[in-house]
Amino acid sequence: MIIRKSASEIERMAKPGELVARTLALLGAAIAPGVTTAELDALAEEFIRSHGAEPTFMGYHGYPASICASPNEMVVHGIPGRYTLAEGDVLSVDVGVTLNGFVGDGAFTFPVGEIDPAARRLLETCSAALAAGVKQARVGNKLSDISHAVQATTESAGFSVVRTLVGHGVGRVMHEDPQIPNYGEPGRGPELRVGMTLAIEPMITAGSPDVFVHEDEWSISTVDGSLAAHFEHSIAVSENGPRILTAAPNVDLAAIAGLSVS
Ligand code: MF3
Ligand code: CO
Repeated sequence: MIIRKSASEIERMAKPGELVARTLALLGAAIAPGVTTAELDALAEEFIRSHGAEPTFMGYHGYPASICASPNEMVVHGIPGRYTLAEGDVLSVDVGVTLNGFVGDGAFTFPVGEIDPAARRLLETCSAALAAGVKQARVGNKLSDISHAVQATTESAGFSVVRTLVGHGVGRVMHEDPQIPNYGEPGRGPELRVGMTLAIEPMITAGSPDVFVHEDEWSISTVDGSLAAHFEHSIAVSENGPRILTAAPNVDLAAIAGLSVS
């Protein structure tokens, strides 16, 4: 069942969303060669809690950290730890915040120092795929219009969409109905209606779309070792089109990351 939110509930959801964006901005500014992913996790946890909010991921099905930090060929759910960032890496950072009784969920893939042009193109394509998906989140469209836009943007740039991982409804809990695949024919699935709140999250790779779960039972990487990217926004379907909830005034993650995105 898709839980639609009232206008006042969506206002409440904007608060955790804004904190997600500000946390990602803080992490983006801290990301540099020599920094460990555990240090980024500590920074995020302190920042989130200092705003009276909870890191949603902590304890979620036993997840042991506040953020997910997934370098290079790791697609999602990397557990922060001793991994030390190196020049030329890319790092996918996923942040969930619970505040005001609602969850915000967002992700961004940051370059570490200078990255090669192919890696940059992967990141910019994933960001563009997210933007294309978000743009479809309007009243009267069908859910799979989002999926299709993500897939078309990704594949026309020569990259692959991970099939086994999906976006989701988001609200009082992190994962609500519906699941949102990042591929598919347009015009399928439930009709989008005012008050639906969705976490749209393309996960794409430079090579094969196949992934595997590591022995830690969380981290997911590409089978062929190809580079991966993950961008995510929580959005609300409004009368005037999609409203991005994981955004904050004066926060420009692309500028922090030095990416050119539309
Ligand atoms: N943010 C992820 C998602 O979009 C979930 C992270 S898994 C967790 O579904 F265990 F870290 F919470
Ligand atoms: Co999500």
